[in-house]
Amino acid sequence: MTALLEVEGLVKHFVAERSLFGRALAHVKAVDGVSFSLEAGKTLALVGESGCGKSTVSRLVLRLIEPDAGAIRFEGRDLLSLGADALRKFRREAQIIFQDPYASLNPRMTVGQILTEPLALHSLVPSAQRRERVAEILRLVGLEPRLERRYPHEFSGGQRQRIAIARALAVEPKLIICDEPVSALDVSIRSQILNLLRDLQDRLGLAYIFVSHDLAVVKHIADHVAVMNLGQIVETAEADALFAAPRHPYSRALLSAIPVPKPRAKRSRIVLQGDIPSALNPPPGCRFHTRCPYVIDRCRSEMPQLVPDGTGHATACHRTSELPSSAAIVPSDGGFSPVLEKLVAAFSGGPEAARGGGVSSLGTDPA
Ligand SMILES: Nc1ncnc2c1ncn2[C@@H]1O[C@H](COP(=O)(O)OP(=O)(O)O)[C@@H](O)[C@H]1O
Ligand SMILES: [Mg+2]
Repeated sequence: MTALLEVEGLVKHFVAERSLFGRALAHVKAVDGVSFSLEAGKTLALVGESGCGKSTVSRLVLRLIEPDAGAIRFEGRDLLSLGADALRKFRREAQIIFQDPYASLNPRMTVGQILTEPLALHSLVPSAQRRERVAEILRLVGLEPRLERRYPHEFSGGQRQRIAIARALAVEPKLIICDEPVSALDVSIRSQILNLLRDLQDRLGLAYIFVSHDLAVVKHIADHVAVMNLGQIVETAEADALFAAPRHPYSRALLSAIPVPKPRAKRSRIVLQGDIPSALNPPPGCRFHTRCPYVIDRCRSEMPQLVPDGTGHATACHRTSELPSSAAIVPSDGGFSPVLEKLVAAFSGGPEAARGGGVSSLGTDPA
């Protein structure tokens, strides 16, 4: 069976600094050799700290920006060689929703106009039937059709995200990229939007790439998870397998930061030590080695490849086979420094993360 989307060896480096004469002096290795595939009707979660390249992958997949290297296939077609007409058709089939729906909805247009625009643009529905279609889409996302005369500012954050989802649905896509779709919403609203996305997936057979810095959010929606660190996927697996037994030390740290719902089922948090490197100047060898509790010499010089284990679980770590199973991880002894507290809180989307203070590369995702 052909996957809906296949991404192979995707690379995107941005020029971060130029000389007076325009020569590139420094590059941000935003995406550096990313491969994955996604089947129709399924959800792949891309997870990792802010700045690890998730949004850049999203934009590459939609061909909003061009990669430096790599291949993208959508339903078996090479996306990078599509002509203008085929690209227009693809733009209908793949949609994106963002963290901040308010910024992506035109404040001067009513909801009805916002939803009619894509229908007209792609000549999907004869004009006489557009109102009816708009009403149908609004019902689909749990909003009353009479709200079509209102403007975005008249809605709450959760409702605005419903409108953004409705706009994406209007063109009957096969794939929706959800880039931190609930990160800006109140915790109480998050599960409503996640449930809506899941419900729409079941009813319409949509595939999602679900981008989040928060593993706890992903848990409720993902079929597959790919954990990213500094432009690379370090572990990918079926969601159940990854949540039951993460293998990469980075995934283990991310997972250990999720609050445990049962107070007595204690899980020890892994607090990462060491510098947080940047994609501007990633360390040689394994890009996680400066923070890894299991670092050995080899990690400092040799970049680990993503090695599949035959069950669909792949890990990029020199020490995968030697490390204790995650259940046996040595408990950390508490007493974190304030900076590390913030790091853990940012992973877990806790109150510190919501305030976003202190650690510049963490906190809630601005993009
Ligand atoms: N247009 C751009 N020019 C220069 N650097 C960029 C650009 N877009 C993203 N970056 C950099 O690429 C890295 C990855 O960014 P991004 O994909 O937005 O990460 P994420 O979505 O995971 O937070 C970051 O270091 C960011 O600063
Ligand atoms: Mg982002």
